[in-house]
Amino acid sequence: MKKKLIAGNWKMNGSLADNEALVRALVAGLASAGGCDVAVAVPAPYLAQVQALAQGSALALAAQDVSQHAAGAYTGEVSAAMLRDFGVRYVLVGHSERRQFHDETDADVATKAQRALAAGITPIVCVGETLAEREAGQTEAVVKRQLAAVIHLNGHCISEVVVAYEPVWAIGTGKTASPEQAQQVHAVLRAQLAAASDQAPRIRLLYGGSMNAGNAAQLLSQADIDGGLVGGASLKAADFQAIIAAAQ
Ligand code: 13P
Repeated sequence: MKKKLIAGNWKMNGSLADNEALVRALVAGLASAGGCDVAVAVPAPYLAQVQALAQGSALALAAQDVSQHAAGAYTGEVSAAMLRDFGVRYVLVGHSERRQFHDETDADVATKAQRALAAGITPIVCVGETLAEREAGQTEAVVKRQLAAVIHLNGHCISEVVVAYEPVWAIGTGKTASPEQAQQVHAVLRAQLAAASDQAPRIRLLYGGSMNAGNAAQLLSQADIDGGLVGGASLKAADFQAIIAAAQ
């Protein structure tokens, strides 16, 4: 059976002192929880710190973004090979905050996913509609378009990718999609994956958007929800651990 994946996305939060306390608590808790995979996506400057703290534990390291370029004159960018140097296992690609604030297009997201895969890093490709798109009845069309961009990456199978459905209106707003709303979209994504690959049943589809200790169990019990991408609640050890426990 495929293990669930619970990935924390710290976004632009953290400090050396806070990270150390949080990661030490998570590593201690993980010693007794082997039923799901757990990762934290940390800001790039802290990759080395978290890599060292998580060494030898089941906590996997993730990055929040990767450059579309391999190397060269791209000031401020971080390449997939650099992430690999720090033992990064997963990288978020196409998070709605990147699409929204950095104008990332579906084509950019596909290139980034391709770069990650070429470096042996699993991309977590984020898709999701805005409130205006949902209200206009465009949810399915939007997430299908976003997923279509990464479904046929050169030389790679879509089963090497993790997909995260994050409705933009549920991110950081405290408004979670209901388990039924989330499952409905996950089923659409699963069907689209199934049309492209016989590996579709083993692709992990994460839900993200105000997932917390109180709502995680119900969301994670849906047929096509294989884990969570957790923002705010991943910054507090007890809350994140409760979500991990709900995924066991
Ligand atoms: P919140 O859990 O804070 O809503 O953030 C979700 C998210 O964007 C994770 O990538």
